[in-house]
Amino acid sequence: MITTSRSIGVGLISVGWMGKLHARAYSNVPYVYPELGIEPRLVIAADTEPSRIDFARNVLGFAEGTTDYRDVLAHPDVDVVSICAPNFLHAEIGIAAAKAGKHFWIEKPVGRGFEETNAVREAAAAAGVVTSIGYNYRHAPAVEHARRLVAEGALGRITNVRAAFFSGYASEPNGALSWRFDRKLAGTGVLADLFSHAADLCQYVVGPVAEITALTNTVYTQRPKLPMGTGTHFAVIEDGEMGDVENEDYAAAIVRFGPSARGAGAVGTLEASRVAVGPECGYQIEVYGTEGSLKWDFERMNELKVCLGRNNDEQGYTTVNASPRHGDYARFQPGPGNSMGFDDLKVIEAKKFLLAVAGGEQANSNINDAASAAAIVSAAETSAETGQWQKLEDLDGTTAARA
Ligand SMILES: NC(=O)c1ccc[n+]([C@@H]2O[C@H](COP(=O)([O-])OP(=O)(O)OC[C@H]3O[C@@H](n4cnc5c(N)ncnc54)[C@H](O)[C@@H]3O)[C@@H](O)[C@H]2O)c1
Repeated sequence: MITTSRSIGVGLISVGWMGKLHARAYSNVPYVYPELGIEPRLVIAADTEPSRIDFARNVLGFAEGTTDYRDVLAHPDVDVVSICAPNFLHAEIGIAAAKAGKHFWIEKPVGRGFEETNAVREAAAAAGVVTSIGYNYRHAPAVEHARRLVAEGALGRITNVRAAFFSGYASEPNGALSWRFDRKLAGTGVLADLFSHAADLCQYVVGPVAEITALTNTVYTQRPKLPMGTGTHFAVIEDGEMGDVENEDYAAAIVRFGPSARGAGAVGTLEASRVAVGPECGYQIEVYGTEGSLKWDFERMNELKVCLGRNNDEQGYTTVNASPRHGDYARFQPGPGNSMGFDDLKVIEAKKFLLAVAGGEQANSNINDAASAAAIVSAAETSAETGQWQKLEDLDGTTAARA
């Protein structure tokens, strides 16, 4: 049943990889979820790079463009804003969006550490705006199924969790020195970029992390410079002017889950690398319990390995294909084997955000989840510097492991 149509004006801040993807995701919502009656209108896009504004207007279909993000926040036809700028602008823009009364979908990590994320959280709470975070891996149907198996107790008591987010985007020594490697622009390196996803995924599937100790390492200390707004962080530059890498390429942590976790008493490891040779988007979570275990890897996003029980005739892992029985899969493909992809996860994220804005189900990740993941990242950074275990507190309002 199609409900009354709800037109929602969209503003976009930054037209890079994520900005383009947010725009495509909004545009797909009416096709994928027609019964919601949600009609996003692409109102205005901002970027400091003029060619990207042209792209937003001429290709993505935004009615207006600007070099100043404040024009987006001040626009009377804008109801929701996507904040896809580099990390150093997240706190400034997130707080300004909240003050302007705009609901916002902001990319992870929200800011350069817990303090900035928490400032955005406080501003959003004071303004009462809906928030959504770019934790796209949550929406993979196989991950939703994994979460359900953990919640239903199919694995028994959760004993340990292993999350490893290994990417090769910086594995080339002449890989570009994008903003991601600059502490002022990005904050931490792989901790903010990939480890934050791993932290969120662990909390989403298993529950809040209570304690952490970590170490970090930088493999390549110099790279060729890349001007802002050009290329991507996958770019390779030969004979370019070199600059210093200011943050870590690799991070590893040991964690203990808290008492309110589905995995109360469970322990685990979180690891992330941006310089791995081999895995390109090897984002894996493995959950082990007293009665079974499961494994998921984003490179095989539509599969979940599940082992339930022991000493039976089917001992070992079963490969479960994502299918219309799992998550939002049926919205994209009619049967198992017709795989979904990364962009589809953003369409689900856009739907959850817009539905929450429209007063429907609040299934979106929110700024409290971002603050919780940021607390883990900041604690990992502190632990890596001091060698000490760090304690974490549960943050009210997170959706982590909420049924
Ligand atoms: N959820 C995910 O899986 C995922 C994946 C990639 C990136 N991200 C996050 O998305 C954010 C953006 O990353 P990206 O890869 O799209 O970056 P990008 O480098 O592709 O794009 C960044 C854009 O911001 C623009 N910009 C810079 N300063 C600006 C300003 N003052 N006002 C407006 N625009 C400005 C640049 O010109 C560029 O077009 C980051 O926070 C990153 O961590 C999330």
